[in-house]
Amino acid sequence: MPNDRVRAVVEDLERTLVELIRKHRVSHDEYRAATDLIIAEVKAGEESLLFDVFFEAAATDVGNEGREGSIEAIEGPFYLPGAPWLDGPPRVLPQRIGEPGIPMVFHGQVTTEKGMPLGGAELDLWHADASGQYSQIHPGIPEWNLRGRFCSDDEGRFEVRTIAPPPYEIPKDGPTGTVLNALGRHFFRPAHLHVKVRHEYFGERTSQLYFTGGEYLDSDVANAVRDELVITAELVEDSQAALRYGLDQPFIDARYDFAFAPSSEAPGD
Ligand SMILES: [Fe+2]
Repeated sequence: MPNDRVRAVVEDLERTLVELIRKHRVSHDEYRAATDLIIAEVKAGEESLLFDVFFEAAATDVGNEGREGSIEAIEGPFYLPGAPWLDGPPRVLPQRIGEPGIPMVFHGQVTTEKGMPLGGAELDLWHADASGQYSQIHPGIPEWNLRGRFCSDDEGRFEVRTIAPPPYEIPKDGPTGTVLNALGRHFFRPAHLHVKVRHEYFGERTSQLYFTGGEYLDSDVANAVRDELVITAELVEDSQAALRYGLDQPFIDARYDFAFAPSSEAPGD
């Protein structure tokens, strides 16, 4: 049975691509190279990577239009559901003994867009290690390393200790890399934390947080940096403050407050 939404979007896509083929006088060999590229992406398991790099941020922007409270961000291809629950305090994201990287404390508060604290919100945090690699995606990293879930307290506050993630290159030896090379683009994403926040009345939001002054903020390969998602990360050298988090060395303090706008099914606040 025809679907009006699919027809509207796909027929527009069809028209756009046909016009593009005529405009650029795309040859049959070039057309076949494009279809071979899609096949190669699937064989390499990179089809999500390819589309995420070029298009996910645009779809996220559409979702953010008119949104009250915190904006959403791209999820990227490396999220895994079912990360372990973390005890605490101090609450520490799963990591190897001597995990490389500068310690980071990520903290903040979850509220409604009007500032009412939201206790019991679930935060699901994941990010790259100091080599720019993700557990269960790249080999040789313990399962669930630098992935974990925890709840906000009664005042909506949360804090977790981890290590500061670095900028990293997306996979560049596969077909997505071939495309980016042909475009003359680099492969870097700026340093970032991925986090999903869930609340029983407010649903789920996907965020991604970057750091002021970080490299590649202006040239992210995924073009996903938005000003509202860039947070301040300060080096704290106060040993008493470090001790509070079970640390004996300086750490980076990073804060972000999540503000949920109620969904249409949510009770009023
Ligand atoms: Fe990432």
